[in-house]
Amino acid sequence: MARILITSAIPYINGIKHLGNLVGSQLPADLFARYMRARGHEVMFICATDEHGTPAELAAAKAGKPVEEYCAEMHDVQAEIARGFRLSFDHFGRSSSQRNHRLTQHFAGRLAENGLIDEVLEKQVFSIDDNRFLPDRYITGTCPNCGNTSARGDQCEECTKQLDPTDLINPRSSISGSTNLEVRETKHLYLKQRALKDKLEAWIDSKTDWPILTTSIAKKWLNDGEGLQDRGITRDLYWGIPVKKGDQPWPGMEGKVFYVWFDAPIEYIAGTAEWADANGKDDSAWERWWRTDKGASDVTYYQFMGKDNVPFHTLSFPATILGSGEPWKMVDYLKSFNYLNYDGGQFSTSQGRGVFMDQALSILPADYWRWWLLSHAPESSDSEFTWENFQASVNKDLADVLGNLVSRVTKFATSKFGTTVPAGGHFGAQETALIADLGARIRDYETLMEQMEVRKAAAELRAIWVIGNEYLQSAAPWSVVKTDPEQAQAQIRLALNLIRVYAILSQPFIPDSAAAMMAAMGSTDWTWPADISDAMRALPAGAAFSVPENLFRKITDEERADWQTRFAGTRT
Ligand code: MF3
Ligand code: ZN
Repeated sequence: MARILITSAIPYINGIKHLGNLVGSQLPADLFARYMRARGHEVMFICATDEHGTPAELAAAKAGKPVEEYCAEMHDVQAEIARGFRLSFDHFGRSSSQRNHRLTQHFAGRLAENGLIDEVLEKQVFSIDDNRFLPDRYITGTCPNCGNTSARGDQCEECTKQLDPTDLINPRSSISGSTNLEVRETKHLYLKQRALKDKLEAWIDSKTDWPILTTSIAKKWLNDGEGLQDRGITRDLYWGIPVKKGDQPWPGMEGKVFYVWFDAPIEYIAGTAEWADANGKDDSAWERWWRTDKGASDVTYYQFMGKDNVPFHTLSFPATILGSGEPWKMVDYLKSFNYLNYDGGQFSTSQGRGVFMDQALSILPADYWRWWLLSHAPESSDSEFTWENFQASVNKDLADVLGNLVSRVTKFATSKFGTTVPAGGHFGAQETALIADLGARIRDYETLMEQMEVRKAAAELRAIWVIGNEYLQSAAPWSVVKTDPEQAQAQIRLALNLIRVYAILSQPFIPDSAAAMMAAMGSTDWTWPADISDAMRALPAGAAFSVPENLFRKITDEERADWQTRFAGTRT
């Protein structure tokens, strides 16, 4: 049994995420966590809301609420939707937690002790009309790198370049739109990332098994142009973690907070501490996941995120950890995703274009979305959601292939042999061949799941469903029963066992349907089919089963057309 730590990039608190956000981190992380648990490993799966910084302040202002209240409410909203999607976090934390305050201040203190913090009197953009500094997203302008005219002060979403507000061309206030701006002096802390460049590079070079998408982005920011820059880690904002050196005040930094990107990844650790607190456990319970001097050296740590997050996870966060000089667990495998587009364009939170998580659940069950999103995960390139494709996948893969098999077998078995697993006959050549084929395909599926090849794993799972249908088609128990009822019983016994095995294999993708299949088979035995021959005999003759409610329904053309119009872009 291995110990597996999994974190998903933590979603911003400001508003409900769309399906593109979901498939870029939380959902594939959940797939992996579920799979690893199913294989009997000890898993710690952490996510949280990313609550600080300008996005939260701006959204709270728009909602007319104090930012603390806004964040508390939105955290609950996001947690509820995550439950709806069956995201199986061990803990869904908050980056504004006291745990994160203390840990973030601790890291800053360590970095200062190690001479890795500069105090810099710098020039920041000040808005005269708004009477405040305009850090990060409070300022909008043209990206000096790619010319995108709506780049934000912290990062350009088009070309992923990390920016400073003063880099922007034609800057304007995101609050008032005012261009009545001036540059004023203010003191800030800088993390001397340049001093850590060699350590970071050596660490990245040691990750020979990382996907190209990940290492190429990391290398690019490490070496491009002027290379790795020292990063400002504090801001002139109200909402955030107060700047302190450990638990001591930081003279000259009163009233300032840490930059959201400094504290957010630390929440992975703090979230695990929150988990311990919530479960009445002491510090050793979370430290054994995170401190290599306290048991974490046998942990394998996987991170999941969209590609725009890669620089922060390959450079900024590792710089914090390495710079602390303390034995914290660092990521072993970083899985990043491209973008999911929506029906010929992009998902857009601001324009309400696309399907948002709450809307998705209001029209169809979680498994339909999980299946489509995971089987079309934007891995090697961006991918696109279209309603036609969604309808076709759900109707074919889920309804025609999997759902149909389950309903045909259970209905036929009930009508011919009653509601217990029939005892007659023996597995013959066809059954043996199916079992062998299944065994080989399951090994393949395991490899793909371990490698986090999400799409390929989905394709293999589907192929596993298909060979069951092909077997039924050719074995044809509904004909055989007329001439050789004993043989038909053996075929049905095999098919019922197949449904249970499908439940186990499919559970990471479609947990609710898997649970319904398992319940219909009257079993609670979720043991992974390591020995497929045994697994196909797990349901004993005479065991009761039932016909499940229709597992999947088809999406009609009218529904498809209706949803297409509804989600074209109106939500505010
Ligand atoms: N909130 C960020 C985003 O959605 C992700 C933060 S991930 C963390 O892009 F590592 F910083 F926590
Ligand atoms: Zn750009």
